[in-house]
Amino acid sequence: MDFKGGNMGKLVVTDHPLIQHKLTILRDKNTSSKDFRQLVTEMAALMGYEVTRDLELKDIEVETPLEKTIGKEISGKKIGIVPILRAGLGMVDGVLSVVPGARVGHIGMYRDPESLKPVTYYSKFPKDIEERTIILLDPMLATGGSLIEAIDEVKRAGATSIRTLNILAAPEGIKAVQEAHPDVDIYVASVERELNDHAYILPGLGDAGDRLFGTK
Ligand code: PRP
Ligand code: URA
Repeated sequence: MDFKGGNMGKLVVTDHPLIQHKLTILRDKNTSSKDFRQLVTEMAALMGYEVTRDLELKDIEVETPLEKTIGKEISGKKIGIVPILRAGLGMVDGVLSVVPGARVGHIGMYRDPESLKPVTYYSKFPKDIEERTIILLDPMLATGGSLIEAIDEVKRAGATSIRTLNILAAPEGIKAVQEAHPDVDIYVASVERELNDHAYILPGLGDAGDRLFGTK
């Protein structure tokens, strides 16, 4: 499903049955960290397929063992993926399994538990970031504060073509990101109901970083 309104970027809900099935297991509080990691990887691969669906192609000649023919090759900007630490790390291997040549940057950021504002502690990007389509990875888009700051950061580094891959997103967060960065397309597996008083997504899946890395 694809929504595009006014001057906003696209919001794409990746409703493939395999993604939706895996998401239900991910939500289950009884799913172990090991299975959670595996599922995030699998979902990121399937969503990676959707987020790259509109990449430009050009014709290229190829010689099979029998004859010459015309095949397709991806043209235009190359891909860079940028996980937002920690939880975005869980999506890296999945996306790399479908885009193995992507360069990988990193943004280290956490949400201050009192103010709920993002605090950036690290960033490192491919040096040709302006020539790449950057896909920001973070399973959770809650208030949108972290993603807005991460987009600011990659833009400051020179990125001009940006999309985001999030597993769950709250409506408030989507709106905030679209207002702050109307040029950015957002790909999610589910638009959730709301945020609770601690800015956790409902129904959600809990704390993605803790569930991925077993820290709670
Ligand atoms: C989580 C999540 C996002 C952020 C979303 O990270 O992975 O980065 O919260 O919230 P927001 O949209 O309200 O900014 P967290 O701060 O828990 O850090 P962690 O990944 O290191 O656990
Ligand atoms: N971060 C998480 O990991 N989970 C939420 O529900 C909100 C932010």
